[in-house]
Formats: sequence, C-alpha cells, structure tokens
Amino acid sequence: MPAGVDCPAWAQLSAAAPLLASTRSLFAADAERFAHCSVRAAGLLFDYSRQRVDAPVLAAFSALAGQLGVRERAAAMFRGDAINLTEGRAVLHTALRRVGEPAPLMVGGVDIDALVRAERARMLDFAERVRTGLIRSSAGQAFTLVVNIGIGGSDLGPAMAVEALRQYTQAAPRVAFVSNVDGCQLADLLQEADPARTLFVICSKTFTTLETRSNALVARAWLQSRLGPAAVPQHFAAVSTNQKAMDEFGVHADYRFAMWDWVGGRYSLCSSIGVALAIAIGAAQFEALLGGAAEMDQHFQSAPWAQNLPVLAAMLGVWNVNFLGLPTHAVLPYDQRLARLPAYLQQLEMESNGKSVRLDGRPAPVPTCPVIWGEPGSNAQHSFFQMLHQGSARVACDFLLPVISSCDSQPQQELAIANALAQAEAFALGQDAAQVEAELRRQGLAAARIAELLPHKVHPGSRPLTLIMFPRLDPPTLGRLLALYEHKVFVQSLIWGVNAFDQWGVELGKQLCKKIIPLVQHPQTTATMSSSLRGALDFVASTLSSK
Ligand code: F6P
Repeated sequence: MPAGVDCPAWAQLSAAAPLLASTRSLFAADAERFAHCSVRAAGLLFDYSRQRVDAPVLAAFSALAGQLGVRERAAAMFRGDAINLTEGRAVLHTALRRVGEPAPLMVGGVDIDALVRAERARMLDFAERVRTGLIRSSAGQAFTLVVNIGIGGSDLGPAMAVEALRQYTQAAPRVAFVSNVDGCQLADLLQEADPARTLFVICSKTFTTLETRSNALVARAWLQSRLGPAAVPQHFAAVSTNQKAMDEFGVHADYRFAMWDWVGGRYSLCSSIGVALAIAIGAAQFEALLGGAAEMDQHFQSAPWAQNLPVLAAMLGVWNVNFLGLPTHAVLPYDQRLARLPAYLQQLEMESNGKSVRLDGRPAPVPTCPVIWGEPGSNAQHSFFQMLHQGSARVACDFLLPVISSCDSQPQQELAIANALAQAEAFALGQDAAQVEAELRRQGLAAARIAELLPHKVHPGSRPLTLIMFPRLDPPTLGRLLALYEHKVFVQSLIWGVNAFDQWGVELGKQLCKKIIPLVQHPQTTATMSSSLRGALDFVASTLSSK
C-alpha cells in the first residue's frame, strides 16, 4: 500500500517548500487570495488563506490524493471493508449516521444499517424517557443527575458535546462526567448527589477498562449503601459490547445498549456511547447532530479535492508538519462552549495517527501526527499566544468561530469575533520593522529608544492558520465539525501510511499497571525492578507507613 512519500507528488511538494514566500507576500501577489483560498461547504466557511500554501502546492496535493487512491480507499471504509488490518476489523462509524431513507448496508451478510437503526431507536427512547422523567429510580423519583462513567472515547466525545450544546439542555437532568481513576471527580459528585435521583451510565466498549471499572464499583457501593442492593439495576445503565460483564455488574436488562467492534472508541459519539448527550439534548437534537455528520460524510465522498474540507484540512496539516517543519497544532475555539474540543481532538488525532510504523510494518520515514493541544482562544491570548507570535517554536492553528453567541450574549460574542480576527491577522501578516518604527515615531519616541525597542516589537507573521467559521454552534454544526476532523484524520493516515484505527501503544502501560497495582497496595520491591520504580515504590511505602 503506497504512502505519500512513495508518490511522485511528494517530490513535487519537497521541491515547492523552500521556494515558498511569506504569507504577506502571498497576499500581496493575489488580491483575491481569500476567494481563492476559502471554501463554503456543509454550513462552514473554511478559510485557509492564512496558511502558507500557494497554487502549485495545492495542485501537488490534489495529485497526491489521486495517486494514493483516497477516493477508492474512502469508499472501502464506507462500505465496510476490513481496513483496520492489524485488528482485522471494518471501520464503520459512518454507518452510525446514515440518516434519511433506510438503505441496507450489507457487511458479511449482516445489514449493519438495520442493526444501527434498531439500537439507536432503543437508546433514544430510553434517553427521552429519562429526560422527561418517565423512567424513574428505585424510589419512584425522576432522575435529576445522570453520571456518565467512562474514559477516552467513552467520555471525551459526550463530555465535549454536552458542554458544546449546553444551550440545548434545558429541562434535562444535570449530566456529569467521571473518568479519572484517582476517584476525585466521583467523590466530589457523590458529596452532593441524591442517590434516589441519580442514574449512572457506564460507557465502556470493553467493560474491562480499569478506570471505568473502579469508578463504577465505587458508585455501586455508594448506591447500595444508601438504597440497598435491590436498587442497583434501576440506577445503572450501560453501553458495551460485553454482555457478560454487564450481567455480572447488575445493569438493568432494558438499560443496556450495544456497541460493535467496528466502532473505534474515539469515533463512537454517534453510537449509544452518546446516550448521556441524548439525555441532555433530547432525541431530536441528537438526530440533528447525526444529520450534520452525515452531511459532512457525503461532502467528503463527493466534493472535488480543492473544495473538499476534510481533504484540505488533511493536506494543510501534512504540509505544516512535513514540509514547513511545524510539529505542533493548536486548536483554538473562540467559544467557551468548545472548551473540551482540544481534548477530544487530542484523542481523535493522536491516538489515531500517533504512530511511526506503516501499515506494512516498515518505519514511517517522515514525521506523522503533530502534537494537538489548545484552549479557548480568548484565554489563550492571555497565556501562550506570546510564544505563538514571537517564540522560536512555530505552531499551526485552527481557529473555530461561531458568529452567533452560544449563550445569548451576542455583544460579547462580537468581541470574541473581533479578537479572533485580530489574532488571525497578526499571526499571518505580523508587523515588520518598518511598521514598528513608523508606529514608535508616531508616538514621539527618541531614535535611541526606537532602536532599543524595535527588535522586541517585530512580529514575524507567517504563522499558518485555518479559520473555520459557522453561523452558530448547533447540533448539526457540531456533527459537521466532528466528521470533518474524523475524515481529516483518515486522509492523513493514508498520506502517512499508518493505521488510524488501532492503538497498540496504549497496551504496554496497561499491562505494566496490572503488575504494579499489588506492589503499591502491599508495598514491596524486587532486585529485578528498575531503580526508578524501586525508588518510587519505596517513597509510597514510607509515606503510607508514616501516615
Ligand atoms: O486505552 C485507550 C482506550 O482503549 C481508548 O481507545 C478507548 O476510547 C478507551 O480506552 C476506553 O475504552 P473502553 O470504552 O473499552 O472502556
């Protein structure tokens, strides 16, 4: 299977990089750069005019997409071929949102579409009945608190989306999320929770994840101690592929929802893993989110490369990492409601493409996934933007910017818009020495002082960024954004030649942890351990014994 580096277009891109002008010169050379380097599609304005790319670079990337067979390989994913080769699985998160007319999706003799629709109908019915108080607790009361217990893909997607769509959660029970193994999130919640009005939803594809199991066991013990063991089933729902474990735990038979091995955890928000989100925003809005994602799926499959948002996002990302040498990518939403988007994208992008071995087992000869990080843009301006403007490490950015306020504070959102646009201009165009000097002269500074200050005030510019704008952060828009990033990750995996759908790198730590747990609980060290491990265990033991 060829990767980008094997294709003739890669050599064209390598040749183009050193010739590339500054962003300022790119704007000077084309008065219509915005028109040439922005796309309006699927409800989004995708403006990459501030990226450091020109027409030959984009043409070479389009050639690369053709040479890699992106169109055919995407079709293979959508039809359910087992493209996750290391796990021998299909990759069918897109089957979770085939809205509109039912049409069979036959994979291995099974109609996946029918399976998905049936399970979604059950899950949404349950969510609506919890939301409206028809499903009641063991004490006969409506639930006022729903606690999602899960981690990774069983937490980040629903947690991010509930926060993003808070505007749509009126009249719903409060939905909270517990993931961390240290127990503090759960302890804080349980302090205030009324057991007779609390529903726990255990989300775990495997139901074996240590963090989720330990939180679920503590929650069950808390509930039992207050309401008695018979109450457990009416307070525990679950989403998993593991029926046996749900039986053993005591999850209510009607409150269990299926997962399938062809949905990766980080791609699972549109499955029943989204049940907490469905409780928060209701069935109709959950379906609207699916509809937005489906719209992006169709756009991805049909739009020409130059208009194709996921393909453009993938190309720009690869350009920044492999040809401009930028190893990190910041996600900067100008909307507090998207505060958890960077964390969600960290898993989506870095667990998917954070690999350095190609699908064929050979080492990847070029860097792959950048470090993804970020913060709401407004806060970021007052913390790390200094480095982004003038630091030695350069960073590519995505700005996400709704026009309409997500909390009915339109005058303040207009300030957020102005901030985002100002920062975007400063990142791209900077401020050169002549501009700084003119400004300081205008302020009446002496020549000697100007000479002193000038180097500190120059902003080099040419910091690449994409501005993604949309009218408002509603469920369809969130669905479109999530599918945009999912397909971006897929296209990048084809370019880098890695498998975006496995995660072997998380296993070693899990295995070692199983061995280390008893050594922490009953402190002991052995001569065969690393001296570092021995030192840490000694510190734990001495601290615990002197407590
Ligand atoms: O450890 C990583 C991981 O396997 C993720 O890929 C997954 O989203 C997360 O753990 C949670 O897994 P589960 O849903 O099986 O509890």
